[in-house]
Amino acid sequence: MKLLVKLGGTLLDSSETRCRLAQQLAGLAERGHRVVVVHGGGKRLSRYLAVQGIQSRFVNGFRVTTPEILDAVVKVLAGEVNVELVTAIQQAGGRAVGLTGADDGLVEAVQLSPELGAVGRIERVRPALLDLLTGNGYVPVVACLAAGAQGELFNVNADQMAVACTVHLQADRLIFLTDVEGVLDEQKRLIPELDAARAEELIHTGVASRGMEAKLKACASAVRQGVPEVRIAAGARPNVLPDLLGGQTVGTALVAGAPVAP
Ligand SMILES: Nc1ncnc2c1ncn2[C@@H]1O[C@H](COP(=O)(O)OP(=O)(O)OP(=O)(O)O)[C@@H](O)[C@H]1O
Ligand SMILES: [Mg+2]
Repeated sequence: MKLLVKLGGTLLDSSETRCRLAQQLAGLAERGHRVVVVHGGGKRLSRYLAVQGIQSRFVNGFRVTTPEILDAVVKVLAGEVNVELVTAIQQAGGRAVGLTGADDGLVEAVQLSPELGAVGRIERVRPALLDLLTGNGYVPVVACLAAGAQGELFNVNADQMAVACTVHLQADRLIFLTDVEGVLDEQKRLIPELDAARAEELIHTGVASRGMEAKLKACASAVRQGVPEVRIAAGARPNVLPDLLGGQTVGTALVAGAPVAP
């Protein structure tokens, strides 16, 4: 099976969770699955910026990316977070390769809006490198940076990057592993399944906000673009990936809505 796993940044902060996930990823590759990892790291970046005394501002949920902040994004995401994860997968017996969207023009972006600075909107994906690597047993680990046509770098949303790579790779499954059980309703109960209309309602009523709002929008776009299976689940749950591949229902599945009656 070809699958894309998006790992939320908080999961990678704890070395225990990171190692557990690395073992599962290495195990899936060992069993012949073609696995690509895309990771975030927003909270780690916020901590780094705070230590450096660099202020950051959010507009419409996007971090305004000044040249100084872009530099920090490269250091923290493509540097620390990526290397730590690659090392953990290697340690678990996998063959991990750390990348960003800039490698071989994997993900090309344009500026989303001048007021956001170097925040990118994904324009195209060239999945050949990912196919080459996964076809030879490697596990590509991609940090959410993309390059522009003029060689500039952009900070891109990791959930959107995961969706774009899944679609262009024609992967069978997209799994978002995050720091909650899945999508929670107004009573904080897990919603096992939801379609785009219900996701829209959760956003509209404020039940799904912040990072989950962005994730639901990304999920809805993946479903719309025909990704066969999209799921949000807890990365800290032991064996979450083998369980999901074994058909267990874990977390929240995003499904295509009921067809509209003629
Ligand atoms: N209805 C909801 N159900 C579940 N989580 C929600 C909901 N509304 C808001 N959230 C928040 O969304 C967060 C998950 O999104 P977040 O962007 O923080 O994680 P991530 O995408 O996994 O990590 P990263 O952004 O670092 O890649 C949860 O920790 C929770 O605080
Ligand atoms: Mg997020």
